[in-house]
Amino acid sequence: MSDVMQSGTFSSIEVPNRFALAPMTRTSAEADGTPNALMADHYEGYAKGGFGLVITEGTYTDDKASQGYANQPGIINDTHVAGWKTIIDRVHAGGSKIFVQLMHAGAQFQANRYTHQPLGPSEVTPKGAPLGLYGDQQTWQTPSAMTETDIRAAVDGFARAAANAKAAGFDGIEIHGANGYLLNQFLSTHFNKREDGYGGSLDNRLRLVLEVVRAVRKAVGNRYPVGIRLSQATVTDPDYQLPEGESGFRTVVEAVRDAGADFVHTTDGEVNRKHFVEGDQSLASVAASVEGVELIINGGIDETNYQDMANQFPGALLAVGKKALANPDFVQRLKDGKEIGDLDFAMLQPKATITNELAWREKNAA
Ligand SMILES: Cc1cc2nc3c(=O)[nH]c(=O)nc-3n(C[C@H](O)[C@H](O)[C@H](O)COP(=O)(O)O)c2cc1C
Repeated sequence: MSDVMQSGTFSSIEVPNRFALAPMTRTSAEADGTPNALMADHYEGYAKGGFGLVITEGTYTDDKASQGYANQPGIINDTHVAGWKTIIDRVHAGGSKIFVQLMHAGAQFQANRYTHQPLGPSEVTPKGAPLGLYGDQQTWQTPSAMTETDIRAAVDGFARAAANAKAAGFDGIEIHGANGYLLNQFLSTHFNKREDGYGGSLDNRLRLVLEVVRAVRKAVGNRYPVGIRLSQATVTDPDYQLPEGESGFRTVVEAVRDAGADFVHTTDGEVNRKHFVEGDQSLASVAASVEGVELIINGGIDETNYQDMANQFPGALLAVGKKALANPDFVQRLKDGKEIGDLDFAMLQPKATITNELAWREKNAA
C-alpha cells in the first residue's frame, strides 16, 4: 500500500485505507458487559468518518478476574456476542473492518462484577492512582499472585473469547499486551517478581504472552487475523523500560510472530519516541525491522505528520486515538481538507462515557 488513502491488504483482509481507530475504553456497555445501541452508534460513526479499520475498546475475556472497569464490554457469552454482532454489522455497512481488542486487566483492576480480588503476576500494585476516567477508586487493590490454575483459566478465557469473536463476525483480533494490563504485567519487571517458569528471564516473562497468542491462534484457525498490541509504557507509568532494551523487544516481536501473530501494534507517547535503555530506535522501528509480521503504529499521529509516518512505515496501519475522539470523521476531514480540532478532555468528564461525550457535543454544538 503506497498511499495512505488507498485500499490494500492487511493481515490477509482488505482494508479501504491505512487508518485505524485506536482502541479506546468508553465504559458504556450494560452493567453485565453487553454492548448496546449507544456503542453501535459510536462505532458506526468512526466507520462513516472514514477509518479503514475500527479496533474496539479493551473487552474482557472471562467471568473471573479479566474485567477491569464497570460497564466495560465483555465477549464471554451469547448475549455479548449478539450485542457485538449489531455493532459489527453497522461498522461493515459503514464500509470499514473491525477487530476486537481482547483484554485481561490483571492488577490494573478497578471494578469487576465476577470477583472482588484482582489477580496479577505477583502481589504488586500499579504505580500511581487508578484512572478517574473509569471509576471513583482512590487506591489500587493488591492483587493475588496467580496460581497455575489461575493462569490456565486466563489462557482458556482468551481462547474462548477469540472463538466468540470469530463467531460474532469480527474481522480479526488484537490481543492487549500493552499499557500495563495482565500480559504486559508479566513482561514487566515492575509487576513480575515470580520465581517460577513465568518470572525472571525475558523468556520466562514472555511465557504467558506466548501461551495466549498460541491459544487464540488455535481457537480461530490459521487464516484469521490475529495480532498483539505491545508497549513498554503503562497507563500510570509512561516511562517504564524493559531491562533487555531494544534487543529484548525484538525478541518479543519475533516470539509473538513465531507463536502465530500476524501483526504487532506498537503504542508509545509518540510513534518515534526513542526510549529503550540502550540503542536509538523506537518500538515501531524495531517492530518494522522484524520480517514476517505486519505493523500497526500508534502515538501522536495527527493531520500534520500522518504522511511522514505512512512514508516511514510502508504498509503499516496508522492508529489514531485522541484526534479520532475529537474528530470521529478525522479521515474524511483529511480527504476534504477540513479543519481538525484537538481533543478537549472535558468531553471525557467526569467519566469517559459515550453519554458524557454526547452531552459535551450538544453543549458545544452552537
Ligand atoms: C479515553 C481513552 C481510552 C483508551 N482505552 C484504551 C484501550 O481500551 N485499549 C488500549 O490499548 N488503549 C487505550 N487507550 C490508548 C489509545 O489507544 C492510544 O494508544 C493513545 O490515546 C495514544 O494514541 P494517540 O496519541 O493517537 O491518542 C485509550 C486512550 C484514551 C484517550
